[in-house]
Amino acid sequence: MHGKERLKDERNKAIHPTQKPEIICKDIILYYSNENDVILDPFCGSGTVPKVCIETNRKYIGIEKEEKYYQEILKRIGQKTFSKNKFFNITT
Ligand SMILES: C[S@@+](CC[C@H](N)C(=O)[O-])C[C@H]1O[C@@H](n2cnc3c(N)ncnc32)[C@H](O)[C@@H]1O
Repeated sequence: MHGKERLKDERNKAIHPTQKPEIICKDIILYYSNENDVILDPFCGSGTVPKVCIETNRKYIGIEKEEKYYQEILKRIGQKTFSKNKFFNITT
């Protein structure tokens, strides 16, 4: 994606190669969920989904394996609620 919401580093290079436009995520989230619903994004990347969740009063669970992107997500959403080292044991 291009435009002013694109996250860039100090050398003006894109921080994440596949950052999605917020407006697309927002349309989907508003259509398919209600306020206070919990949304899971297991491939958070630059954190577009958590950011939109905060703006639209949704809760979120975000997962991202790359430390550098995880740190960028924390900066982008401006809070430390994107927790690290939490383990879930899901059984059926
Ligand atoms: C297509 S990108 C997501 C882009 C995101 N929607 C955005 O707007 O920035 C996919 C992300 O999933 C992460 N990923 C891939 N495999 C993963 C795994 N097994 N667990 C957690 N994250 C993973 C990658 O590091 C990458 O940042």
